[in-house]
Amino acid sequence: MAGEDEKAKGKMQSGAKGPAKLDRRELLKGLSTVPALGLFGYAWNAQRQHQQARVEAAAAPPAAPADLQEINVALIGAGAQGQVLTEAMLRIPGLRFRAVCDIWTEYNQKRVVNTLGRFKHQVNGYEDYREMLDKEKAIDAVIIASPDFWHAQHTIDCLKAGKQVYCEKEMSNTLEGARSMVLAARETGKLLQIGHQRRSNPRYIHCYEKLLTEAKLLGRIVTVYGQWNRGVTPDLGAPDRYLIPEARLAQYGFKDMHQFRNWRWYKGKGGGPIVDLGSHQIDIYSWFLGANPSHVMASGGQLYYDPKTHEWYDTVMVVYDYDTPLGPAKAYYQTQTTNGSQGYFENFMGDQGTLLISESEVNNPGSLYRDPNAPAWDEWIQKRYVSAPQIQEVKEKSDAAAIADVRESVAPDRHTVPVALRDPYHQPHLQNFFDAVRGKAKLNCPAEVAYETAVAVLKVNEAIEAGGRLSFKAGDFKV
Ligand SMILES: NC(=O)c1ccc[n+]([C@@H]2O[C@H](COP(=O)([O-])OP(=O)(O)OC[C@H]3O[C@@H](n4cnc5c(N)ncnc54)[C@H](O)[C@@H]3O)[C@@H](O)[C@H]2O)c1
Repeated sequence: MAGEDEKAKGKMQSGAKGPAKLDRRELLKGLSTVPALGLFGYAWNAQRQHQQARVEAAAAPPAAPADLQEINVALIGAGAQGQVLTEAMLRIPGLRFRAVCDIWTEYNQKRVVNTLGRFKHQVNGYEDYREMLDKEKAIDAVIIASPDFWHAQHTIDCLKAGKQVYCEKEMSNTLEGARSMVLAARETGKLLQIGHQRRSNPRYIHCYEKLLTEAKLLGRIVTVYGQWNRGVTPDLGAPDRYLIPEARLAQYGFKDMHQFRNWRWYKGKGGGPIVDLGSHQIDIYSWFLGANPSHVMASGGQLYYDPKTHEWYDTVMVVYDYDTPLGPAKAYYQTQTTNGSQGYFENFMGDQGTLLISESEVNNPGSLYRDPNAPAWDEWIQKRYVSAPQIQEVKEKSDAAAIADVRESVAPDRHTVPVALRDPYHQPHLQNFFDAVRGKAKLNCPAEVAYETAVAVLKVNEAIEAGGRLSFKAGDFKV
């Protein structure tokens, strides 16, 4: 998440760790009620200051060329991700913000309207997106960052109102919802980009196009491993002065303020961490393997958090089977929410090499390991597709503890992927969308592609419930 990612970590949290003697669930329950305490106020204010600093740091967009067509933009859902996207869009030339819609009029809506005002975008705020669509006829494109269970309705109504749409992942919390979004895009002929932003990340594109497809550095990929490990996160809350009246919460499908702030964990609203976090990376599995999965088996559990407020699994382990164009492959994925060690990455292992990659620019951004038996990579080093190798340290024979068994594989040399993203993570994907709106690019993640990922990911929760191995039919991935 903030990706879900960093952003969710950065969200306003309702507390911090308490005395070690408390039972885990008691502790977390306690944390979720901390709003009354000074600690919550401190966390809330610290977070506000952090967000403020981030926004101030957003560079003004470079001057737009005189002939650049201006695009009128509206945002639906001005929460954590809506704000991250807004900050990225403020760096893209040729955009004119017109409206912000958010049901949390007391806080998130006001904050993003004010932020945009500071950057000289005079926008109108709306609680109801239908009123916004009725009144704001000039809008060309709508960016949707509402909770997953609203995506289908928001997207379909915007497409039908003639708008081009960028909708955050997960496309929908149900397959029916995702399917109806694909159909609406097709019927209206409007663009629908889904927010799997790695599809536009220059490092991922370089790895797919240059390293895997052209140079074939991994040979045949047979196994894949990926993870998103996240440390314990207290429930999100809100200060009393910003509470939303119950009637309004109910009108928009939330039973109370806790569910409104923590919708990801609730059935019928989000899909839990496997959908929230896993969908980004399972999307890459299919992209890089050139195939959708044929089978899935999964195990998951509510191992740590209060199951009454965390209805989805906090820990999930998945094994997919793929029939790739080069042969069968197996892919493991895990997401857990109680220890953030080693963060998030994907690791593709072929018979000639390994690619370890992450969206993170600081942890595992991109390493390659050539299998000692694979052909030399000199040509690709000269072409700057990969860096020169950093030779692995040879252990001294005198170091008894380091004497390797003669049957151990020789440790391969490490190369790096020489492509970094210096912009905010979501900027290239948004830029690709706006380029497509101007007719100058094809979408990198159109609805049909995101639908395939939704099929693969949503099936995991089904497989956990079924307690067995489930099959996909080829037709499952098509609308
Ligand atoms: N691509 C990524 O890396 C990434 C990262 C984080 C979140 N996301 C996605 O972004 C979306 C939002 O996530 P978030 O973390 O910002 O959640 P959030 O709870 O912080 O924000 C959601 C916002 O939507 C508003 N909202 C709720 N119902 C609404 C409605 N019917 N109409 C208008 N506004 C409504 C809420 O008031 C809130 O401000 C989710 O779909 C999430 O999966 C994507």
